[in-house]
Amino acid sequence: MPNLFLPDRIIRVNQLDSTNSYALQLLKDTNPSGGTVVMALNQTEGRGQQTNAWESESGKNLTISLILRPDFIFAQDQFQVSMLISLGVSDYLKTYTENVSIKWPNDIYVGDKKIAGVLIEQSIMGAHLSHSVCGIGLNVNQEEFTSHAPNPISLNILTKKNYQLETELKKLLAAIEKRYFQLMDKDGKKLEADYLKSLYWINKKHTFEDENGKFNGNIIGISEFGQLQIEDNKREIRTYNFKEVSFIK
Ligand code: BTN
Repeated sequence: MPNLFLPDRIIRVNQLDSTNSYALQLLKDTNPSGGTVVMALNQTEGRGQQTNAWESESGKNLTISLILRPDFIFAQDQFQVSMLISLGVSDYLKTYTENVSIKWPNDIYVGDKKIAGVLIEQSIMGAHLSHSVCGIGLNVNQEEFTSHAPNPISLNILTKKNYQLETELKKLLAAIEKRYFQLMDKDGKKLEADYLKSLYWINKKHTFEDENGKFNGNIIGISEFGQLQIEDNKREIRTYNFKEVSFIK
């Protein structure tokens, strides 16, 4: 198998505002190859989804951004990048623990707790993706969380062990690389099937909330554009973009 993440394409920095912001700036200023990785031991302005901050104690966790150039992906299929990253992270985590799932669109859970978050910022050129900056925050050695994040967990809390970040980085990149080549080899169907299988709350009755209030339903899948599909009690299928629906219980 060819390599995407070559050792000499890993940029290690002690402290940055945000690895995603740094990677986006690199794309503006230089011409980084696909497979460039930015890793920071500490982020002063780590960004989460929406306007949230990403909590990560200095030197304890993996906070990385991967620069990809997936020009084989059509613009309308851009959710495939989300699927490949979240599946790569969950494949990696499954080597340590059970009950790993992906809370749509790309939070990585162990049981009911969040162990990793993904922030993807990408741009389109013509009909295809030109670059993706895939930010991953993976809680590795942190033992206590102080922000308002509702349900954080780390590998350390789960397994009572400390991990070497460099070793974990290599394992994580290898897992993501596998999924990347799976997609490149036109095995998008397998990727999608595996993503669906891994979805948190898939095919189980739960309570959700949208702009009209709470309702019960089952997650039955995702649309071709990556929207969440929930079948409600009237057997109607409701389709949501990110942040249009919350998971209640
Ligand atoms: C989320 O779940 O809200 C997404 C969190 C993404 C955090 C990572 S840490 C590395 C990269 N740089 C950032 O500023 N954010 C992402």
